[in-house]
Amino acid sequence: METEFQDGKQEVIEAWYMDDSQEDQRLPHHREPKEFIPLDKLSELGIISWRLNPDNWEKDENLKKIREARGYTYMDICDVCPEKLPNYETKIKNFFEEHLHTDEEIRYCLEGSGYFDVRDENDQWIRVAVKKGGMIVLPAGMYHRFTLDTDNYIKAMRLFVGEPVWTPYNRPHDHLPARNIWTSLSRQKVEIKLLRLTETILNLPVGLFQCVPCAI
Ligand SMILES: [Fe+2]
Repeated sequence: METEFQDGKQEVIEAWYMDDSQEDQRLPHHREPKEFIPLDKLSELGIISWRLNPDNWEKDENLKKIREARGYTYMDICDVCPEKLPNYETKIKNFFEEHLHTDEEIRYCLEGSGYFDVRDENDQWIRVAVKKGGMIVLPAGMYHRFTLDTDNYIKAMRLFVGEPVWTPYNRPHDHLPARNIWTSLSRQKVEIKLLRLTETILNLPVGLFQCVPCAI
């Protein structure tokens, strides 16, 4: 399922390393020079993403397949913009506080756009820009935050397994089991990458070294 519905995804989802500037959070915050990140890197961090057809979401069989496969029984839609969101300024500030959840954060951009900032394995900020048609799943335990961009508008579908729990745990909350799981999975992925790199450099058969905990 994670590898389906990828056609044209790079047109609606982009990612780059952020600068350290304290300027308006809604600006792109590219580094100089720009450091774009391949979407495969997001997969390595545990982020799943797809491109779907948001103009037909009510009858979209692909969305239905994803929801069934991943158990996303809950769904709602929210508009985030100054005109439609009560307590807009307070909520925008809260969304931008670095936090994690004990469950996945699943968002499908039906209209507009926004930035999901996530920490990589070295604690660097990656900005994930999501436009209309992009759907992303941030894993439980991953530190992140959200902001609108300078267009100030997103209509987003929120999905959840069962009854939704939106509780944000602002950093630091490293003692939570969800955080430990994300950290150890992330570490294992880095180890596997190093092993594969070693195999390539030494010209050894791929897969000679096995990572037992992951068994992949
Ligand atoms: Fe969140």
